[in-house]
Amino acid sequence: MATPSMTLFHSPASPFARKVLVLLHETGQRERVTLEEVKLTPVNPDRTLNAHNPAGKIPALRLADGNVLYDSRVILEYLDQQHVGEPLIPQCGAPRWRRLTLAALADAILDAAVGMRYESFLRPEDKRWPQWLEAQGEKIERALQQLEEQAIAELTCRFDIAAIGLACALGYLDFRQPERAWRQRFPQLAAWYAEVSQRPSMQATQPPA
Ligand code: BEZ
Repeated sequence: MATPSMTLFHSPASPFARKVLVLLHETGQRERVTLEEVKLTPVNPDRTLNAHNPAGKIPALRLADGNVLYDSRVILEYLDQQHVGEPLIPQCGAPRWRRLTLAALADAILDAAVGMRYESFLRPEDKRWPQWLEAQGEKIERALQQLEEQAIAELTCRFDIAAIGLACALGYLDFRQPERAWRQRFPQLAAWYAEVSQRPSMQATQPPA
């Protein structure tokens, strides 16, 4: 087994860190990385992580030369250039911009869902803002609707950067918003996810029970 040369600052609950781990599994690079778990919230930062990433966010990837990469999109792009297989991020042309746009939509679902988690779990109850929560929920629904109607064929053809992003986003909705019951409204996404969630990379990176 190769000695790990990189360190990934992560949390097992972070869907952004999960995207990186899934790509590492999919590209045969998992053993190149040591995991360092960081316990943090937006109001309880981690000093060690802050020294590496002033934004105080996970994931962050420390390379063998000490340089640190963040955020997840930059790390994914870097790692996708470190293996010899077919790239998971198309390198040029229309396919690149389309797949990155779908990946950005999956990230938008995650931004909204993680924000909702902080608002409903961390923020003191008397300071919560129901209209903001509702608007984030609507953002998630609009994104899922568009993916259901316009992207299923593209998602099905390859488990690439867009598919990894969406699979991690749907996994996070199941983890933190099971009451959303998204499968009822988006049956094609549900069928697609039932299949991709069985992949070894997804099984090995499930959020904590
Ligand atoms: C969560 O517990 O939902 C979470 C943890 C780390 C990053 C994002 C979300």
